Amino acid sequence: MDASSENHPTRRSQSANTRRYDRIARFYSTFEPLYLVFPPARRRAVAALGLKAGDTVLEIGAGTGRNFPYLVEAVGPSGTVIGVDASRGMLAEASKLSERHGWSNVQLLHQDATKLQLDRDVDGVLFSLSYSALPEPQPALARAWERLRPCSRVVVMDMGLTQGGPYSLLAPIARLLVKYAPGDAYSDPWSDLARYGPVETERFMAGFYYVSTVAKPQQP
Ligand SMILES: C[S@@+](CC[C@H](N)C(=O)[O-])C[C@H]1O[C@@H](n2cnc3c(N)ncnc32)[C@H](O)[C@@H]1O
Repeated sequence: MDASSENHPTRRSQSANTRRYDRIARFYSTFEPLYLVFPPARRRAVAALGLKAGDTVLEIGAGTGRNFPYLVEAVGPSGTVIGVDASRGMLAEASKLSERHGWSNVQLLHQDATKLQLDRDVDGVLFSLSYSALPEPQPALARAWERLRPCSRVVVMDMGLTQGGPYSLLAPIARLLVKYAPGDAYSDPWSDLARYGPVETERFMAGFYYVSTVAKPQQP
């Protein structure tokens, strides 16, 4: 299904999106400096998950595994990192990274996150630069939320702009980035997250990047 809509004109279909990631997978980490995704942004997102040793954390759209060093450190050797991605090319790079580091507690799943199937519950869900890249992020969020344990968090770290407001001054830059990166520059995960509970959003790097967090309430 083509997910393009009036509010999200830059979204692509899932198959076109996955083909594009398959093509760029080998160069993804080389491009990273271009998008200014420096380790502090990743660390900030992982810290917002509030993980502890022994936890299981799920990354949706894990890509080449650029967050794994921080996730593996946060859950420790007794914890588990599950990376889900729709692109075999991206997962192949993540697998190489995992092997290089000897991470035996990283599991990679080739799945479309909108049809996520997990055989266990998790203590945190991370969307890092992926919420805006998923053509249909809402069903992926809903599936992940089902597997999230009470008092655990979903964190979305991403880049982009809202339509209107002071940040719209940066729209030309966003349009340029969108041309070369498969993502929706006008993704607004905080509206989706707000359906699940109170959302905290912190913007950084001139407002270009944000970390949005929602916690699952304790069950009555
Ligand atoms: C910009 S990359 C982000 C990778 C990584 N999270 C990071 O921080 O570098 C977005 C990833 O989302 C994945 N993706 C897009 N649609 C997806 C879907 N429906 N299910 C799972 N992964 C998806 C892409 O294949 C790609 O690897």
